[in-house]
Amino acid sequence: MEILKRIAGLCARYKRQIFTALLLQTLVILSRLILPIFTKSVVNDVITDGHVELLAQLCAAILGLVLVRAGANYCRSLLFERVSQNVSYDLRVGLYNHLQEMPYEFYDKNRIGEIMSRMTGDLEGVRNLIAGGIVTAYEQLLSFVGALIFMSFMCWQMTLLLLIFAPLIAVSAWKFRKRIRPIFRSIREQDAVLNTRAQENLAGMRVVKAFAREDYESELFSKENNEGLRRNLEATWTWSKYYPLIELLSGMCTPVALIGGAILASQGLMDVGTFVGVTGYIWMITNPMNMLSNIINMVTNAVTSAEKLFYYIDFGSNIKEPEDARSPEEFHGHVEFDHVTFTYGGEPVLKDISFEAKPGQTIAVMGATGAGKSTLVTLMGRFYDIQSGSLRIDGIDVKKHRLKALRREIGYVPQETFLFSDTLEDNIRFGRPDASFEQVQRAARVAQAEEFIEAMPQKYETVVGERGMGLSGGQKQRVAIARAVLTDPAILVMDDSTSAVDMETEYEIQQQLGEVLKGRTTFIIAHRISSVKNADCILVLENGAIAERGTHKELLEKKGIYWQMVQDQTASFADALGPVA
Ligand SMILES: Nc1ncnc2c1ncn2[C@@H]1O[C@H](COP(=O)(O)OP(=O)(O)O)[C@@H](O)[C@H]1O
Ligand SMILES: [Mg+2]
Repeated sequence: MEILKRIAGLCARYKRQIFTALLLQTLVILSRLILPIFTKSVVNDVITDGHVELLAQLCAAILGLVLVRAGANYCRSLLFERVSQNVSYDLRVGLYNHLQEMPYEFYDKNRIGEIMSRMTGDLEGVRNLIAGGIVTAYEQLLSFVGALIFMSFMCWQMTLLLLIFAPLIAVSAWKFRKRIRPIFRSIREQDAVLNTRAQENLAGMRVVKAFAREDYESELFSKENNEGLRRNLEATWTWSKYYPLIELLSGMCTPVALIGGAILASQGLMDVGTFVGVTGYIWMITNPMNMLSNIINMVTNAVTSAEKLFYYIDFGSNIKEPEDARSPEEFHGHVEFDHVTFTYGGEPVLKDISFEAKPGQTIAVMGATGAGKSTLVTLMGRFYDIQSGSLRIDGIDVKKHRLKALRREIGYVPQETFLFSDTLEDNIRFGRPDASFEQVQRAARVAQAEEFIEAMPQKYETVVGERGMGLSGGQKQRVAIARAVLTDPAILVMDDSTSAVDMETEYEIQQQLGEVLKGRTTFIIAHRISSVKNADCILVLENGAIAERGTHKELLEKKGIYWQMVQDQTASFADALGPVA
């Protein structure tokens, strides 16, 4: 009920159209309800009483009714179809915009395939309800009630007989609804599972092929597919158990009523015209009873879909800027971590982190994988909220910042490069759509991407495949660096972003960046000593805590973890050079 109310809420914008359409539908049903009165008159007045002159008028009236009905039906279908398309359009746009606002946490928990199945299958389910369900339910209900009223005026005894099985039908329908609902829900869930499987398999196709796991993947897919089939068949099976029963019960109403009518007529308690007229209503009463399981099917299906959609819509972002959010006039990139502790939900990933990055400084973050380096830098853009301590950028707590303004000032080169299937130029321009081509070129030059882009047959116009297929890892990273540099950020974050680039190119990038990023705060996460040794401060993370901090020189003197890393890297170099050196 709650969900139906919300679906109605979605239609609120179109209430005038819906109202008109329902009015037209009422007209259609009214015309059906009036028809038996005319047929009764044809039998009684024209045939029995011999008023032949009335025939032409009656026929014209009947024809008129048919025309009105056809016209109203036509307009009504068009209106409902349009409203349903509009509602599903609104819903799609709303959902899409909503998904844009969802925090990282949402995407940690929900899988793409599932989201896709909500955006397609479930949305269509809701649309179907609006396009067909509402009108069918309204039509059947109105026919039923209307025909009951009209018929009882003609012959209440037959009307009562017709309703003899109605309670039984209602009970079966109720039971059916209760049984079918969980099945529909499980179908929608399985649909999402199937979509997720397909999506992940396709996205990871290169891994599948590399490990020759095609058969395994196919098997897994068929398993889920079979499960989907099973659940769909279960729904059909359940329906097939109730449908014949309901059909039988509603079908039996007609002979019972007819027998009653025949007895009444033979006893002279009812004239033939009334009998003929009454039969015109029988179908209008039994059909809705008959259709009940169909209607329940349709509505329940749509409600389960809507349930899933609303779950997403209700999954509000807990990361919201407050009413009085502000941003500095100009960002300087002053970052302060003040006893920051953070957890993704389990064990703390970062513990009591305190440090300061003054505008223009370069902070290097080192540490083993899983130490919390990436987490540390994502906190600055408030992609997750910290549990305790405070994190200030330019003196303002990130929770008080205007979110978009803040994030725009952080140029982020993520650990895993993601490129859109678009031209290289537009990929670089992504963070700053108004940048000129010269600016794009300059950013590419800084990122040492210019050379390989120029060497491509279509240069900047080259369209890269999904996620940047067709580029090497190092090339993708360089495009990502160009993209971040172009936004002209106050803070640049490079999360292991030169890991796939050769050392010489990395050196070049650093030289170029040095020029461009003068006066900007830079965070470098790297494993190579060469990438971090010029930093103003090197933080060494161990199990989420800062184990060591200082400049290259200071840390060497300390002879701690950092010193050990330097030793290891030099040793492996020496190894590579061999005994000659
Ligand atoms: N989105 C996430 N949800 C839950 N745990 C996460 C998530 N991202 C990272 N972690 C966990 O947090 C820890 C630190 O991860 P991360 O910051 O990526 O480390 P690093 O970048 O130093 O390799 C790891 O134990 C990792 O499993
Ligand atoms: Mg990382």
